[in-house]
Amino acid sequence: MPETATVPRTATASLLAAIADTGRDPIRGGYTRPVFSSAERDLVQWYLAELDRRGLTATTDRNGIIWAWWNPHGRPLLDAVVTGSHLDSVPGGGAFDGPLGVASALGALDLLRERGIDPARPLGLAVFPEEEGSRFGVACLGSRLMTGAISAPQALRLTDADGVTFADAARRAGLDPAAMGRDDDLLGRIGAFVELHVEQGRGLIDLDFPVAVGASILGHGRWRVTVRGQGNHAGTTLLADRHDPMLVAAQVVVAVRDSAAAHPGTRATVGRLQPTPGGTNVIASRVELWLDVRHPDDDVTATVVADITRRAAVAAAAEGCELQVVPESVSPTVSFHAGLTDRLVRSLPGAPRLDTGAGHDAGVLAAHVPSAMVFVRNPTGVSHSPEEHVEDADADRGAVALADALAGLLTG
Ligand code: GLV
Ligand code: MN
Ligand code: MN
Repeated sequence: MPETATVPRTATASLLAAIADTGRDPIRGGYTRPVFSSAERDLVQWYLAELDRRGLTATTDRNGIIWAWWNPHGRPLLDAVVTGSHLDSVPGGGAFDGPLGVASALGALDLLRERGIDPARPLGLAVFPEEEGSRFGVACLGSRLMTGAISAPQALRLTDADGVTFADAARRAGLDPAAMGRDDDLLGRIGAFVELHVEQGRGLIDLDFPVAVGASILGHGRWRVTVRGQGNHAGTTLLADRHDPMLVAAQVVVAVRDSAAAHPGTRATVGRLQPTPGGTNVIASRVELWLDVRHPDDDVTATVVADITRRAAVAAAAEGCELQVVPESVSPTVSFHAGLTDRLVRSLPGAPRLDTGAGHDAGVLAAHVPSAMVFVRNPTGVSHSPEEHVEDADADRGAVALADALAGLLTG
């Protein structure tokens, strides 16, 4: 949609305004809405109420994914077009990563109805739990469970920072852990999945366009690095007598940057580091850090992780510490479905195709159902941060683009 075209107002901005105070983080800034937290559950209640206002009934499937169907002709739930996103956030995240896709799905549904679209296929609206993996460590946990990309026993064993298992947290949220796992029946009902998402980099700023069609998602993964040393007294332990895992962790952080720099195109990050016991006057006994590595070529990602592991092992040996590197989740590079992507490009004249470095449920579903994405311009180019932003007019443009794309799929 060109910048100059008159954009109809959609419900998107006012829907987001209604949740602007939910889950604000007074310490980090922005929003902290981990899965099954009171903030995320409040968002779910808001979403259910918005579905209800639209005469739609929600059901939560056995993996915690919330579904609602617009199916005015009562057709069998087959070959459905599905759109949606997530409501959980990273710690101190922005207002749009996830909720923009959820609000835009509602806004697009309103537009389809206003336009009198007569759907030849059911339209599903979906909200996926734990997309960020910010509580249990594995991103896109709901879609991974649904597709079998993670087994139920593996998922149920995951723990949060307080040691609460995913099984217990899910049970407290009213789910039945015993019923979780791959859902071929539901997957088999989806003919196309389109996720709208805030753009998380500078792609659309550089292209000077409000919306884009997703082309690919960079392969990415997370590894937990544990360094074990000897907890001891900061004042009485001579340097020569120390086995300090923090010293090793510091070298790992530098190795991550050095190794990424040596392999062009790599993005590698340590954004989380946890010393145990974590006292100012205490040499840590253990430090855990989490490594996030991304590259379009999955072999390069593996090479970078192997290189970091080798450098970390050298640093650990020099300090008399033990090292463990365990993958938590690894996702290959995904190219979105060519036919579906082409259809979206045709329905959004002028929209560029854009690769993204961020992971999405659409990337997980892409291995099973034709999947595609629509990105909406973020004028700051910053995401996973309170600075993430979308102008109201672009939120409207995004919802209109989504409605245009869905209309084509529902009637074409
Ligand atoms: C999710 O936003 C990710 O890319 O980590
Ligand atoms: Mn995110
Ligand atoms: Mn997201």
